[in-house]
Parts: sequence; C-alpha cells; structure tokens
Amino acid sequence: TSESITDLLDRLCAIVPDYPQPGISFKDLTPVFADPVGLRRMVDELIAPFEGRFDIVAGLEARGFVLAAAAAYASGKGMLTIRKAGKLPREVYRDEYTLEYGSGCLEMHRDEIAPGTRVLILDDVLATGGTVGSAVRLVEMTGAVVAGIGVVLELDGLEGRAKLDGHEVVSLQLVH
Ligand code: PRP
Repeated sequence: TSESITDLLDRLCAIVPDYPQPGISFKDLTPVFADPVGLRRMVDELIAPFEGRFDIVAGLEARGFVLAAAAAYASGKGMLTIRKAGKLPREVYRDEYTLEYGSGCLEMHRDEIAPGTRVLILDDVLATGGTVGSAVRLVEMTGAVVAGIGVVLELDGLEGRAKLDGHEVVSLQLVH
C-alpha cells in the first residue's frame, strides 16, 4: 500500500484524553500491535534504517519487548531483555536513572552479549530519554556497541534525543 507510516499510526493509535493524568493526551499503541498490517509495518520501519548494521535486538520492558521480539525474529537475530529491577534471575548489570517524577532502575544479564556485539535498542516511546539512556549505559557496560535506537513515538519538547547524544535515533512519528 501507499499509506505512510505516520498515516497508519494516526489511523490505528487510540488517543486517550486525561491519561495517565488530567491534561495529558495519551497515544496508545496497543491497537497498532493488535493490527496485522500495523504490527508488521511498524517493525519493518524500525529495522530498515539499521539493516546489516546490528547483531542483536534489545527490548525495554514492557512495550519494547513486543517490538524487539518481532524485529529480532524478522531479521533472524536474537533478542536481549532489558528489564525493570528485580526481574532477572542471574547476575546483572544495573543502572539507575531519573524520571520526570522519581527514579527508575533497569537491569540486563551480564553474560548474554560478547564485547563488540552491535545492539539495536527498541522501545515504544522516547519521552525524556531516561529509559533509553539507561539501556544505552547497560549495553556499553558489557563492552557491546549501540548500533542504533529505534522508537515508534518521539515526544516533542522533552529533550529525549539530546540525552542520547552521539547515537543514531530513528523515530517513526514525532508527537507534539
Ligand atoms: C514508558 C515507555 C518508555 C518510557 C519512555 O515506559 O514505554 O519505556 O516510558 O519515557 P522516558 O523517555 O521519559 O524514559 P513505562 O515506564 O511506562 O513502562 P512499561 O512499558 O513497562 O509500561
């Protein structure tokens, strides 16, 4: 089809007013995940810019898992699960980061990637960049290399991209 990815996202995303707080209009991607064309297009568009330049795909809990698993499968790679603290059973690298309100902590198993591995990091949304920035640090702690960062939605005006300086960031749609 000739529908652009932005038109597709506009057609399939659900807009939820006053969620999670009054005054915030939330763009819900779950209907895109649920749509056969939507899921495929979204994943294909996230992989394409990095074709041939990554060895493994990292997904960030929880919505990033959907994208990363599909992207890894589609490109014949494996997937790394970067999780919220306390979920992984073996030895981890851990990174704490500041969020708009409070703090967060992500972890990744120490032994799942060899130094030099090129990692494509995928998540659903880039807002302040706190979460993806933390994932970048975790990947680099292992001696692996961040091949690129792909997100579906990039929230404008939060300076998320600025926090990821030096890394190639692809977003499918800028949200104002
Ligand atoms: C949301 C979203 C991103 C992150 C973006 O995750 O899925 O991971 O916030 O925000 P940031 O750029 O300001 O860090 P959330 O913490 O809601 O987790 P979930 O996917 O497990 O619901």
